[in-house]
Amino acid sequence: MVHTATLTAAAAALLCALPVQAGLYPKSSAVLSIDGKNYDRLIAQSNHTSIVEFYAPWCGHCKNLQPAYEKAAQNLKGLAKVAAVNCDEESNKQFCGTFGVQGFPTLKIVKPGQKTGRPIVEDYNGPRTAKGIVEAVMDKIPNLVKRVTDKDLETFLADANETPKALLFTDKGKTSGLLKAVAIDFKGSIKVAQIRNTDKASVELFGVTKFPTLVLLPGGKEAAEGIVYDGELKKDAIVAFLSQAATPNPDPAPPKVKVPKKKDSKISPDKAKAAFEKASKSHAKADGSTAGATATEEVLEDGAKPTESPSPEADTEKPVVLPDPAPAIPTLATEGQLKKECLGPKTGTCILAFTAETEDATTKKALEALAELAHKHAIAKRNTLPFFVVPKSNVAQDVVKAAISLDAPLEIVAINGRRGWWRKLPAKGSAIKDEDVTVEAIESWVDAIKMGEGSKEKLPEGLIPTEPEAPEPQAEHPIVVEEILEEVDDEPKTEKPAAEETKVDDKHDEL
Ligand SMILES: *[C@@H]1O[C@H](CO)[C@@H](O)[C@H](O)[C@H]1NC(C)=O
Repeated sequence: MVHTATLTAAAAALLCALPVQAGLYPKSSAVLSIDGKNYDRLIAQSNHTSIVEFYAPWCGHCKNLQPAYEKAAQNLKGLAKVAAVNCDEESNKQFCGTFGVQGFPTLKIVKPGQKTGRPIVEDYNGPRTAKGIVEAVMDKIPNLVKRVTDKDLETFLADANETPKALLFTDKGKTSGLLKAVAIDFKGSIKVAQIRNTDKASVELFGVTKFPTLVLLPGGKEAAEGIVYDGELKKDAIVAFLSQAATPNPDPAPPKVKVPKKKDSKISPDKAKAAFEKASKSHAKADGSTAGATATEEVLEDGAKPTESPSPEADTEKPVVLPDPAPAIPTLATEGQLKKECLGPKTGTCILAFTAETEDATTKKALEALAELAHKHAIAKRNTLPFFVVPKSNVAQDVVKAAISLDAPLEIVAINGRRGWWRKLPAKGSAIKDEDVTVEAIESWVDAIKMGEGSKEKLPEGLIPTEPEAPEPQAEHPIVVEEILEEVDDEPKTEKPAAEETKVDDKHDEL
């Protein structure tokens, strides 16, 4: 008897001594690990739809679900958020309780409601497969995309004249998940619509010859000329393209910047600038605000220290007029983005600022000037060359700089992939000085390029692929985000009874 009691006590002691089991989804996972503290900011406040798994690391069904959930997260990247809460963590127990979680895993789809921060939460009881989850979540992505026809195109274009608009000409009847997600990223700043190929008058008016074609109309009275998107039909690239007209909403929203209120609704340029810089910094962290794309880092960085934000009422009661700051120019963070936008066999002229890890005064000045110039052109609805930052953290920076023998910490170049030339600011051989990066100096350099003036250097062989790049092998990128471009196809599906997991990727591959 004594023996047994001792054993039991020993077993209990052993159990207690076991370390708390780690969660199922590591930092590197596409699944966003959340907790009671950041749920509100990351999920409830988002304009995007999310799915949240409530789990315990020891639960067998949770472990079984893990690979499918991981895959669903990769498939939904940029389209919706896929999150998980470890309910075994002491600090999350109450939070899981408030959701009425009784067994593990429990899956809930969180869809934005009418009011921000008041989402509609529904249980997901469908199949525990990547396909089942992806389809259910895609089905709940809010549709902010307007359908227009020949009849109401005029009205659509005239409505809120100053607001930029993006119009997708498509031969599909349904709205793709990709376009919905893009519309959500630009909610409040760009009106997104789609129109069918059968609306002949509009198709002709815009001279559209292939479907899909995406046209950006920067807004305003003289906005007759649309900018036709000719990049890849992938979310990041489309968001980068539309960013020339408006900044996508950072998600999660950055902490509010308190702006001192003055009677005359003006604030000192310095303060506005500081506020803007702070806001755009947190925006940059959200990396163009694709849903869930970088949210994992966000949680880890900010989750533990929620920031106080001033009460929202205070801000809405007396609107403060900010001196219309120029949004920062978009960043090409990865080699893939750089190739896609500027180093492809078909890419046109890009202006690239290669920056060092730490920005010196000249770099700051240059980036501000570029932003101002881009903004000025956007406001004036003038077509201009796209400007991008290529940060040091983009591994391709060194490769390109080495290829064209540049080595200063800040280099600004124009590159044209299609024609295979490049050109440096100010001139080859001399380093960038402060006077080279004023708005005026950059503008006249850009204008000269547009006019075809000045000498260009030939890009070295091999920097630009000769043919459009073949799709990447599935093995390297088993799950390609951008492949889920289409939510529902109107055409009858001829599904082969292929393995469930392969079907997930293949079905949604158009805009
Ligand atoms: C949600 O949309 C509104 C516009 O309706 C925008 O102001 C806000 O920044 C968006 N929030 C997030 C987190 O994207």
